[in-house]
Formats: sequence, C-alpha cells, structure tokens
Amino acid sequence: MAKKGRVFSGIRPTGRAHLGNYLGAIKNYVALQDNYDCVYCIVDIHALTTVEDTLNLKQNTHEMTLDLLAAGIRPEETILFVQSHVPQVTELHTILSMVTPLGKLTDLPTFKDMVRQHPNNVNYGLVGYPVLMTADIVLYKSDLVPVGVDQAPHLEFARETVRSFNHRYQTKVLIEPQMKSAEVPKVLGIDGKEKMSKSLDNHIELAATPEETRQRVMQMVTDPQRIKRSDPGNPDVCNVFTLHKVFTPKEDVEMINVECRKAGIGCVDCKKRFAENLNIALEPFRAKRAELAAKPDLVAATLNDGARRARAIAEKTMEEVRAAVQLP
Ligand code: TRP
Repeated sequence: MAKKGRVFSGIRPTGRAHLGNYLGAIKNYVALQDNYDCVYCIVDIHALTTVEDTLNLKQNTHEMTLDLLAAGIRPEETILFVQSHVPQVTELHTILSMVTPLGKLTDLPTFKDMVRQHPNNVNYGLVGYPVLMTADIVLYKSDLVPVGVDQAPHLEFARETVRSFNHRYQTKVLIEPQMKSAEVPKVLGIDGKEKMSKSLDNHIELAATPEETRQRVMQMVTDPQRIKRSDPGNPDVCNVFTLHKVFTPKEDVEMINVECRKAGIGCVDCKKRFAENLNIALEPFRAKRAELAAKPDLVAATLNDGARRARAIAEKTMEEVRAAVQLP
C-alpha cells in the first residue's frame, strides 16, 4: 500500500524507556509505521546539551534502541538511526542558524525552562537546541512530526525557520513540517503528582522484572482523598486507574470503576491487579528485548544500516541546500 508521506521524530537517549515514554511516544511511533514512511532518530547530540543526559551516552543509546525495537519498530521498513551517525545534520544546523534571530531562541518558553533547570550550564548549544531539531526534521524532508504538546513551540519555530530560509534564498528546497500530536493519556509518576520521568525517579521501566514492576506499582499514590479502606474512591483522579484503562481488560476496568466509587475494592487490591495486568501486557516486549540484548552485534548492524539509509537522504538534501545558499 502506498504510504501517505514521511514521518520523522527524535527521541532522547535517556536509557531504559518507561511507561511515560511508551504511552507518550513509542506506541505512536509503532502505529505510524502502518501508514507512513518513518524515520526515527535517537538524538545523542541533543543529549550533549545537558550534563545528566551525557552520562553513559553509549549505554543509554543502546538501551533505548533495544526498547524501540522490542516495542515494534520494524527496521526493514523504518529508518532507525543515531543522530551523530549522520553528520550532515550539524552542517544544516550551522546554515539554518544564519537565518535564526537570537532573540527568537532566547524567548522560547522551552529555553527559559532549561535555564531555570540548568542555571550553571547555559551553553551555546542549549540555545541552539531548536535549530538542531529543525535540521533533524527538514534534512529528511519530513511531512509530519509526532511529538508531545510540550514540543509545540519547537515545531512552530521549525516552520518559521523553513519559511525564513526559503525566503532568504528564494528557494523551495525545505519543506514546512506539520506537527502531529496523538491523544495520549497524561502519565504521572508513582508519586501521582509529577509527570513520569527518570530524573525524578518516579518511573516504571518497560524492561523491569515482574517483581520490580510489582514493587513500583505498590508504591503508587492513588486518589489522595481516599485515606481509609472504607472511603469511597474517585477513579477520575487516580493515576492507577488511568493506567488500568490502558493495560487491563475492559470488563475489569468497568468493575474497578464501579467498585472503587463504593469502596468495594481497595487501593492495595486494585494495584495488585494492575501490576499483574501490566506484567502480562509487557511479557512479549520483555521476551523480545532479552533476545535482542543477547545479540549486540545485530543491534549495532541495525543502527548502521539505518544510518546508511539516512545519510543517503541527508546528503541529497544537503546538495540542494548548498546549491541554494550558493556555497562556492
Ligand atoms: N526535542 C525532542 C524532545 O525533547 C527530541 C527531538 C530532537 C525531536 N529532534 C527532534 C523530536 C526532531 C521531533 C523531531 O522530545
């Protein structure tokens, strides 16, 4: 079947993926393969902008690769590669930086957040983060970019940069990408407060053992208003219930929804059921991941092949870009 266009997305190599990464991005990446030509990139150069992401960069990239492949990325059709393996992106980043007003970058809400989080490491690369992200996207002439809503300012920036470039050099070489945000449940961490994230250590890893998973799930904070076992609960504000809706069979979700509201089921029991269902749902993923982890050479070869295919597209775009800007 003819595909509808090219999808591109980048994911940071933060090590083993957790439920938030999966439901927020990876699950959608897998689904998009049915209808689009997909290019997925593990953005190791972006990771260099913040110190904590630089730690164990090789290992973290490997872990993320295992997770993506085990979750169902199909490298025979989809191009899966590591950003630094296609150096053309840094060349395009430099060229795009020439049509980027500095104030536009420092005004971005995402930049201001980063400055707040890393006041002692506001490096030049951090300011240019969205320019590199734009280079990622346009190097592959991507039509659609699946990202979370937090990335909306970066996508808008990318679109504006494409317009500035094409206008300045009177060309149509670069394509304005569209943002594609999927309907995803908001996944909070086990604290029930903050977004699930590795740095807050409130996450549940896809690749955890069933026992580790159970322990993490049992620590999850449920409806904060429900204190005693006999208090009725409210599933609408319970993070465990949000996840039941994804991983638990429908009839059981309905039962929990009804019973929780009349204190028919307690939080401990509810979490035990969730841990069981989650472990069942993740079983095929974990088996496939273990298989891949035993074959590191195959995984490396897969990434090499992805990089080779990515470079072919990237070099063709760069030839057009160099001609458009009239580099001698
Ligand atoms: N900035 C994105 C994030 O933090 C990662 C990213 C880098 C990306 N390059 C990209 C996403 C290109 C989409 C397209 O999640």
